[in-house]
Amino acid sequence: MKKWISMLLTLGMIVGLTSCGRTGSSKDGDPNTVEVGVAIYKFDDNFMTLYREELQRYFEEDLSQDGVRYHVTLVDGKGDQAEQTNQIDNFIANQVDVLICNLVQASSASTVVEKCRAANIPVVFINREPAQEDLELWPGRTAYVGADARQSGTFQGEIIADTPNQGDWNGNGTVDYVMIMGDPENVDAQYRTEYSVKALEDAGLTPRKLFEQRGDWDQAKGQELAQNALTQFGDQVDVIFCNNDAMALGAAQAISAADRTVGRDIYLVGVDALEECQKMVQAGTMTGTVLNDHVSQAHTAAEVAIRAVNGEDLEPYYWVDYVKVVQP
Ligand code: GAL
Repeated sequence: MKKWISMLLTLGMIVGLTSCGRTGSSKDGDPNTVEVGVAIYKFDDNFMTLYREELQRYFEEDLSQDGVRYHVTLVDGKGDQAEQTNQIDNFIANQVDVLICNLVQASSASTVVEKCRAANIPVVFINREPAQEDLELWPGRTAYVGADARQSGTFQGEIIADTPNQGDWNGNGTVDYVMIMGDPENVDAQYRTEYSVKALEDAGLTPRKLFEQRGDWDQAKGQELAQNALTQFGDQVDVIFCNNDAMALGAAQAISAADRTVGRDIYLVGVDALEECQKMVQAGTMTGTVLNDHVSQAHTAAEVAIRAVNGEDLEPYYWVDYVKVVQP
């Protein structure tokens, strides 16, 4: 008898453990709960923190109603693709209803799509744009929600071209710039770098690159690189372009430390429109930034994911616009 009781207890524990441990699913669990697995490339990223918090809030507070509840599980890829792939495998094993994926490496999209297709779990990529052919591996069940990075780069260049001296403080006829890049594997970094310079050329100006290095979207790296560039090139530097605001915050510190002043002898632009940077733009301590609309992107991603769960066919792309942020 004792043996039976202990066996029953063990069984109960196992059942209890599995039901707590698994992500849960409407496929075999609570019919009113939709399980959403969200893989983020790295929690420690200013912009993606705002994005993921809004995504979870929107699903769980705004979209959940009496009939249907959305439950979001967020995982931190810590900038490591192998780790993220494991996390995605777990989501698949736990039969989430839909996967929202901010890849560590965009080049891993095909592997993720193949895995999801085999498990019949639709996948919505966000923030890091995969190659088109990867989205086409499972048409209608795979999509990308994001903003066109070319637009943000163009806006950065236009902000500089629209300044009174058209980005040329020392009057030498060229816009001598420093480029602090994000992760170069990422199209956001590639296009912002390319299109900011192209917008200067399109405005009839002559850009001259003094310095270009990767800062991986990180504030501390942005500061270090801006400091190096200012030490090396001193007063020659007219403009510091940063592929994002976190790095621009770092560059702003380096600019003050070098006794330079934004709007008086140097320009500084970023992308994202973090709250702190919007305030700096108002105060004139940053020349401009570009709103990377995490709220609209999060809402669109959630709505697209729900369409997929409901069995609707997805378009391959859903775009959200960037918006220029400058002093009025
Ligand atoms: C960009 C954003 C960066 C960083 C990056 C991560 O769109 O501007 O700040 O979050 O995504 O992939």
